[in-house]
Amino acid sequence: MHHWLLIPLRVQTREAFCSGIMAAAGGTPATMRAVQYSGYGAGAGALKHVKIPVPSVKKHEVLIKVEAASINPVDWIIQKGMLRPFLPKFPFIPASDVAGEIVQVGSGVHELKVGDKVLCRLNFWKGGGLAEYVAAPESLTAVRPAGVSAADAAGLPIAGLTALRALLSIGTKFDGTGTGANVLVTAASGGVGTYAVQLARLGGHHVTATCGARNMDLVRSLGADVVIDYKTPEGAALSTSSPTGEKYDYIINTAVTVDWSAMKPALRSHGRAVDITPNPRNYVAAALTMFARKKIAMMALVSLGKAELRFLMELVGEGRLATVVDSRHPLEKAAEAWEKSMGGHATGKIIVEM
Ligand SMILES: NC(=O)c1ccc[n+]([C@@H]2O[C@H](COP(=O)([O-])OP(=O)(O)OC[C@H]3O[C@@H](n4cnc5c(N)ncnc54)[C@H](OP(=O)(O)O)[C@@H]3O)[C@@H](O)[C@H]2O)c1
Repeated sequence: MHHWLLIPLRVQTREAFCSGIMAAAGGTPATMRAVQYSGYGAGAGALKHVKIPVPSVKKHEVLIKVEAASINPVDWIIQKGMLRPFLPKFPFIPASDVAGEIVQVGSGVHELKVGDKVLCRLNFWKGGGLAEYVAAPESLTAVRPAGVSAADAAGLPIAGLTALRALLSIGTKFDGTGTGANVLVTAASGGVGTYAVQLARLGGHHVTATCGARNMDLVRSLGADVVIDYKTPEGAALSTSSPTGEKYDYIINTAVTVDWSAMKPALRSHGRAVDITPNPRNYVAAALTMFARKKIAMMALVSLGKAELRFLMELVGEGRLATVVDSRHPLEKAAEAWEKSMGGHATGKIIVEM
């Protein structure tokens, strides 16, 4: 008799403990608006607007009231089923780059508190960004300085960290001791490219960049020394450009259509390309050039964390790094943002605002 009374009590106590809620801002509703899809393919048309429970936080998570999220190509790549059968779990709320305000913290959260304005790189396989609230790991959440808008912060996680990681992988130093390598950044007008050009410049490199004619002035303003229109013969050849006519020491390739066959002749002997795109031909080239003098390395999904997010955030706060915003879309028009990203012609980051 005592047992059946005690068991539910114990279960309830354990649940309350596991949810680990230390503090909750008044006024967090029980349900929220979110955008989700329930199957592979079908693009923007498959995004459904739903009303679902606000997620609860685990011990090391914070609940973020999302102000802005940004869309990355990986979001619709997952929807296309390119990572099947592993991802995603349906129904799935896409987007992993968010900025907002903390309204609740788990019992194991020590650095962050309710009321902090933050940005977060959610685990991309869990998504959750296109919603009014998301439970985010503390380990991937960083405070954003006053004066940095939610849209500017939301652009940073995947694209900024990818650009940073590519630059770190070629030995870029951000302490003023850069050696002035001759670096090419392709698709410099894209989400990753706009950050990569600025970071390459901050790292003291001589920067050449490719983009479409309409974005050449913008890319110059981001710090590129030389800008090439990718639709010209020079652009197709990734034409060399340093003042001394040398070839590139490094190429950071963020254009999925640029093959190793175009990069190789533009690199100097022992030059190296770092490719962040899912270009299958370049994956083959990476395997084949592993022991060659000129080589290409593929950079799969970004693995940098909170310290690097903070570093980028500080640069934005100091006005040394800027998010180029392509467009802003209200959550109700998330499909518009999705379609824009799938079109492949964004200039900077596509932002969805809650
Ligand atoms: N490995 C990773 O962790 C990682 C992370 C992020 C992204 N990615 C991958 O990296 C690629 C870039 O991502 P993103 O977010 O920067 O994409 P994005 O913002 O959609 O890039 C669009 C931009 O690329 C420009 N562009 C397209 N083809 C070009 C070419 N051949 N030469 C020069 N510019 C070109 C477009 O210019 P126009 O409009 O003038 O054509 C547009 O401004 C994608 O393939 C994505 O899947 C990988």
